[in-house]
Amino acid sequence: MTLSESAAAPVNEVVLEAVGLTKHFPVRKRLRDLFSRTPTAVHAVDDVSFALRRGQVTALVGESGSGKSTVARLLAQLHRRTAGDIRLHGVSTTVRGGRAFRSYVRRVQLILQDPFASLNPVHTIRYHLTRSLRIHGNAGRTAEDLEKALGELLTRVSLTPAERYLDAFPHELSGGQRQRVAIARALGADPEVLLADEPVSMLDVSIRLGVLNLLRDLKDRLNLAILYITHDIASARYFADETIVMYAGRMVEGGDSETVTQNPAHPYTRLLIESAPDPDRITGAADATGQDRGNGEPPSLIRPPAGCRFHPRCPHVMPRCKVDLPLRLEIADRPGHWAACWLYDPATVAAEGSASAAPDADPTIGPPPAARTGPRSSAPAVPLIHRAEDAR
Ligand SMILES: Nc1ncnc2c1ncn2[C@@H]1O[C@H](COP(=O)(O)OP(=O)(O)O)[C@@H](O)[C@H]1O
Ligand SMILES: [Mg+2]
Repeated sequence: MTLSESAAAPVNEVVLEAVGLTKHFPVRKRLRDLFSRTPTAVHAVDDVSFALRRGQVTALVGESGSGKSTVARLLAQLHRRTAGDIRLHGVSTTVRGGRAFRSYVRRVQLILQDPFASLNPVHTIRYHLTRSLRIHGNAGRTAEDLEKALGELLTRVSLTPAERYLDAFPHELSGGQRQRVAIARALGADPEVLLADEPVSMLDVSIRLGVLNLLRDLKDRLNLAILYITHDIASARYFADETIVMYAGRMVEGGDSETVTQNPAHPYTRLLIESAPDPDRITGAADATGQDRGNGEPPSLIRPPAGCRFHPRCPHVMPRCKVDLPLRLEIADRPGHWAACWLYDPATVAAEGSASAAPDADPTIGPPPAARTGPRSSAPAVPLIHRAEDAR
């Protein structure tokens, strides 16, 4: 068995890269649109770029429908992309089935949200793991090799003694144990990248931490690059080195997890953090105003709003936001922290003045980013600035 403790490989080396990744799903036209020439499509993912590095967890955070799973499926080569590129070790990669797909999957494995649906109920754990080892050429030559490899896989995911689990059926295991089996099956390929699409969302709260800790331990020991998809930004802070926030198919903010979660710059990230249930706030002054903290619904992705897709919900909306697509603008508080938001454009701030940069500011979600104070805002009152388009 070749499960490598790949300590020799350089840490932080980019393994898999999304470059301007875009996916539009065509939709069938309604009768009254039949003669219109405009193609109709769900703009599920638009211009998404990030890099997954060895020994690092990158979190992709956003509410339901923001395009997170589509990004995972594109990276797993399960969808054909509309535009953009996927680079594995710097090489542009497009595979459709066959041997090339198998060789890609050996390096990039996808773990899904529902471990019960992803395991076949009529087969034992031994069957699932053996199949993965065989397909990816890690089963060894003899029956003993195989048995040893199976034992190693289950030990890696802390299902010991292995004999207790090997001949069990999925329904005989708990949700957490099933997810561990799904992870073991992915490890059977000896991958470099794990794409974990909401891997703990279906699990009881009490066992989520155990599975996240397991993934973190595997990342360290096997030097894996992990994409951790979640709608729970708090878990991203705990688990991920880097966090990227998506809204309605576009990336709106990114940076190291601590900065993005503790010092969020984009109004959407701030809303996401503020809308997590907090017992102190439920009885707090903000609630007394009777304002809706949720502040609206995500937009239609068939006709997404022009300019910034968040503008219809944004408490700091400016006329420009309704027309111009915001660029990624670097925030001066930490290297690598950026937001796609005009509030951080020097021209906007100069024109509006930092105090009035947020004319419609909603008091329920705190001061506009440009006016933040507090221990982390060693950033200037105008936390600017240069274009980060090239810094992908
Ligand atoms: N196969 C598909 N065909 C058409 N639309 C799709 C398909 N898959 C996803 N979508 C749409 O793309 C958008 C993003 O979906 P998804 O990536 O599943 O979001 P998330 O994982 O963030 O909840 C949604 O509006 C969804 O309805
Ligand atoms: Mg999803």
